[in-house]
Amino acid sequence: LAIDRSGVWRFRELVSPVDGEAIITRGEGNTGLYNVPKLADWVGVDTLYLKHEGENPTGSFKDRGMTVGVSVARHCGAAIVACASTGNTSASLASYAAIADMRCVVLLPAGKVSAAKLSQSIAYGAKTIAIRGDFDKALSLLQSTAPQLGLYILNSVNPWRLEGQKTVMYELLESLRWEVPDWIFLPGGNLGNTSAFGKALLEMRSLGLIDSLPRIGVVQAEGAAPFAHAYKSGWQSYSPVKAETVATAIRIGDPVNYQKARRVVQELDGLVTSVSDREILDAKAMVDGAGVGCEPASAASVAGIRKLMSERIISPDSKVVAVLTGHILKDPDATFMYHTSDNRFSNKIIEVDADPKSIISVV
Ligand code: F0G
Repeated sequence: LAIDRSGVWRFRELVSPVDGEAIITRGEGNTGLYNVPKLADWVGVDTLYLKHEGENPTGSFKDRGMTVGVSVARHCGAAIVACASTGNTSASLASYAAIADMRCVVLLPAGKVSAAKLSQSIAYGAKTIAIRGDFDKALSLLQSTAPQLGLYILNSVNPWRLEGQKTVMYELLESLRWEVPDWIFLPGGNLGNTSAFGKALLEMRSLGLIDSLPRIGVVQAEGAAPFAHAYKSGWQSYSPVKAETVATAIRIGDPVNYQKARRVVQELDGLVTSVSDREILDAKAMVDGAGVGCEPASAASVAGIRKLMSERIISPDSKVVAVLTGHILKDPDATFMYHTSDNRFSNKIIEVDADPKSIISVV
């Protein structure tokens, strides 16, 4: 049964009171933890682990939150589940809603969702609405129309999503035999993961599962970095931005979980930084080239570690974990775009005539 394979429901006492029959699961979680010395060398730390959340059923960490969110929604008798999304939340919700046999509506920013993610939502049968506006607009439109339309919202404003996403941390610490790493890095968009990871770590400490806390590093794309700007101001000012980045998953200008995430960064002695699109894509090429692979937004965590190492903010003898949030196949266009033009780690396709001489001349 999928529930026996679920790395979320394994921790059900810490996640949700919804029980056996009501649970909608695809056996999410139990994702790989990779120790990649080549990448550790590149970023400049002693030990770097990659926790690969792209290995979830629909290819991103969202499945951990969605198994809980959709189970609760059905349990409560919700008629229609809905979300706004940059593509992964909608892919995940569409799948879980189909399994639960529930109606599903997703609102996406037109032209700003990768084809792979968009194809998941239409294939799983969600009513897929592309709005002529950005993600932030899609989410506010959803929130304003949901009461009238009777929609049950499954964005990360829904606390059950965060309860499910906590299990990334339970699983990680369990794999590390409850030995706390120095740092945990993740990309920040709507800041649901930042909030969920912090909650999980604080809970683990109060339960006595761990006796100290790691520091947390949240990495945003330079063109979508309202959280990083607020951090830099000493939390004195916050203003939404008009977001733009190649990492479309985190193309978010006004994160809904800002307050929760800010508390987490403060309690975990964390920091927030931002990296350029070029740094994101080079880091992705390194993660991909190491054989692990991830989508652009996920590589922001690795790019952030490298940046902070070069600024001497992280010490080289640190044990660091980077969470990879999405699968390499989530955005093949970004991969092609990088490798077909002149970039630092480009690996161009070589097209030749179909004869032995041509092959021999290029190998
Ligand atoms: N990485 C990936 C691959 C994502 O899809 C997202 C968010 C994030 C990181 C940021 O996570 O919002 O918890 O800070 N994607 C959402 C979506 C917005 O609609 O798929 P966060």
